[in-house]
Amino acid sequence: MGQGIAAPAENTAHITVQADNPGIAISPLLYGIFFEEVSRAGDGGLYSELIRNRDFRAGLLPDGFKIEGKDLITRAGWRRGADEIGNPLDGWSACGQGQVNVISTQDECGQEGQAGRFVAKSPADGMINSGFYGIPVEAGKSYQMLLIVRNDQGQAGEAIVELLDKHDKPIGQGRVALNGNSWLRRELTLKATASVPDAKLRISFSKPATVLVRYASLLPVERWHGLPIRVDMAEKLQSLKPAFMRFPGGGFAHNASLDTGWNWKETIGPVERRPGRIAMWGYRSTDGLGYHEYLLLCEAMKMEAVPVVNIGISCMAFEYEVEPMEKMGRWVQDALDAIEYANGPADSTWGKVRAANGHPSPFKIKFLAIGNECGGELYEKRYPLFYNAIKKKYPEITLISASYVKDTPMDMTDHHFYPRPEWFFANSGMYDKQPRSPKVFVSELGSMDGHSQGNLIGALGEAVFMMGMERNSDLVTLCCYAPLFVNAKHRNWPHSMFIHNNGMVYGTPSYHAFKMFSETRGDRVLPCAVESPKVRKRIMLAGGVGIGTWATQIEARDVRVFTGVQPLTVVANAADWAAWKKETGQWEVNQEGSFVQSGDKPLTCARIGAKDWNNYSYTLKVRKTGGQDGAIMYFAHQSAGDNFLLHLGAFGNKVALIERRVNGKRDEITLREPFTMEIGRWYEVKIDLGRERLRCFVDGALLFDLPMDQVTAEEEHDQVFASASRTNDGGIYLRAVNISEFPINAAFTLPGVGLLAADGSVSWMSGKEPRLENSFEAPEKINQQTKLIKLGGTEFTYTLPPYSLTTFSLRQRK
Ligand code: AHR
Repeated sequence: MGQGIAAPAENTAHITVQADNPGIAISPLLYGIFFEEVSRAGDGGLYSELIRNRDFRAGLLPDGFKIEGKDLITRAGWRRGADEIGNPLDGWSACGQGQVNVISTQDECGQEGQAGRFVAKSPADGMINSGFYGIPVEAGKSYQMLLIVRNDQGQAGEAIVELLDKHDKPIGQGRVALNGNSWLRRELTLKATASVPDAKLRISFSKPATVLVRYASLLPVERWHGLPIRVDMAEKLQSLKPAFMRFPGGGFAHNASLDTGWNWKETIGPVERRPGRIAMWGYRSTDGLGYHEYLLLCEAMKMEAVPVVNIGISCMAFEYEVEPMEKMGRWVQDALDAIEYANGPADSTWGKVRAANGHPSPFKIKFLAIGNECGGELYEKRYPLFYNAIKKKYPEITLISASYVKDTPMDMTDHHFYPRPEWFFANSGMYDKQPRSPKVFVSELGSMDGHSQGNLIGALGEAVFMMGMERNSDLVTLCCYAPLFVNAKHRNWPHSMFIHNNGMVYGTPSYHAFKMFSETRGDRVLPCAVESPKVRKRIMLAGGVGIGTWATQIEARDVRVFTGVQPLTVVANAADWAAWKKETGQWEVNQEGSFVQSGDKPLTCARIGAKDWNNYSYTLKVRKTGGQDGAIMYFAHQSAGDNFLLHLGAFGNKVALIERRVNGKRDEITLREPFTMEIGRWYEVKIDLGRERLRCFVDGALLFDLPMDQVTAEEEHDQVFASASRTNDGGIYLRAVNISEFPINAAFTLPGVGLLAADGSVSWMSGKEPRLENSFEAPEKINQQTKLIKLGGTEFTYTLPPYSLTTFSLRQRK
């Protein structure tokens, strides 16, 4: 029995499942989701607002931020693209003979605010909003418009609001009377008469006038569970049956400065009063999806809420800001208040605000994450402030540390993985031998495979890794994929679980894998032994970077390790060396801020980075100050015995070469090129660890250029991975992944099961090529398929298609 062509007998994996010997309980919360405002997941995505820059605040920059050419430069000096930042008229333009600009003015609450202003001579003049890459409307559907508007001349007239198709033909219209020259709040409903994915909205006035628009919002009347979120996207989420939702980031929780970091208190209450913020991902967030909406979404989807609080450090992946310790009180109080807002009684200070916002009963959150991707001494010092204060008041809340800390308890700690699929295959047993405390939340997991937007082999890698997490679910109690949504017009991250445009959202293969896992999560793990045909695969080239010497003294400086435009690490000044691990040798930072190795031992090493760093470019400046050889640059460093070394001036300062170490065994993978390092001269070294080639440059000249199959060692590993679990009521779930290009027979034996019930079902996802992706044109190319199967007995063989994930839902016969 099986799928497609049966495999030859020798191509068989034997999978033995001890059905009568259940192991650890599987966390019922294991599979959840992580929503971050990245890649326009919220504004221009799940949040159903259709008007871009509805409050005309897009031009506002925090003090100390500036735009230079096409770049935004933050106060701390982080430079990033500013395509969608800084233009006050972002999304707006004039129509007819009218003129449009944005002015600062007192708003309807007497506060300093921004407003779009148009001067119209006739009703044809006005302002147009083009939405988030167009305004999608559907014939027959209604759209709710909220305008906060003022007619400066005060003469009576009507504001005319129209939906226009691409020929500027009205396809929905409404009018509201305006008189007097004070701010007026007007609501109207527009009914679309045609379906258009990229309509525009025009606002004009029936008389010659100067009109100020402080706020213009358009939301579909149709809502998901009463929430302002896109129905198709919400339904996709719901299909995953997620057990929890982590939010609002990721990097977005911290953003690019302290004042733009996510401050939940600014995200509640009337949307038209929320100031919004610059998201570090290069656009403005309205915060229309705010803390309250996230909690409502969790409630409606029956997910545990896992808010990530900002801890007074902006995103540490880039140049960042830090609140001094003496001012940390406010941040700790904000975290305490966030819990009170969610859980406090309706007469508590923040519970009262929640009740006023429409939710008198507490949300009963159980988790809180103390920051995202923060570490080092700064975090070590700040984490206890939060942990101790929160535990004192809310001992029942599970607190999640962003990294390991030494002297304060951790209920749970956060792990993130963005490696290549091969890494997942090689590391699915990673949690088998780890200490069982603290608990682990794998809150960001997603396979990076070249420029893939989420392909089949990546999803299979994630599936194999998830098997390992589930097998260790006493330790890993929560996990989720990242990132969740990408708007195809604003991609900040290569891959995602879903890709959307204005009219459609589809799942990448990772979505189908997660869904299949969520559907086949039992209550207890069943021990599962796999004897699989082996495959010899190239090991992935990944790992940290380092500097070293052989009986030589050197200085190094100006290190930059970038993957694409994302920095992995940068040494810009003396303090940055503190994060480097001095493995061997005598390392110190000199007055010029260079890292100096002054010892004369044979193999020295100072290094930085994580085992899953890959696809990067590593540059630095290095000079020899004495000794017998030259310098060594480490890369793809997994451990002292597993790494790569670029030697400049090896063997008595005579040659350059690349050396590879696998399990402590060394070999030279290049010829020895003549190379002598001069004493005192700075050399600029660059190592490009690409997907296809490894290239090394010295002072801009190419020294080595190797295709990957010449660089990486081969490693033997299984072609088939499997896992099994049972439910408390006799259900049995089996899963198998075939990562090879051939069909493989999976011969299942289930001793101890008694007999399997005759009826079961099998789901699978597979493809002929490992790198297949879904697309708007073919959204279901890689898709979950399901059929019923007839079994019985305690053994069966099923042919796993090439590149496939297969799950079985079976029952023990009563
Ligand atoms: O998921 C995208 C980003 O990856 C998150 O913002 C951050 O936590 C991680 O680096």
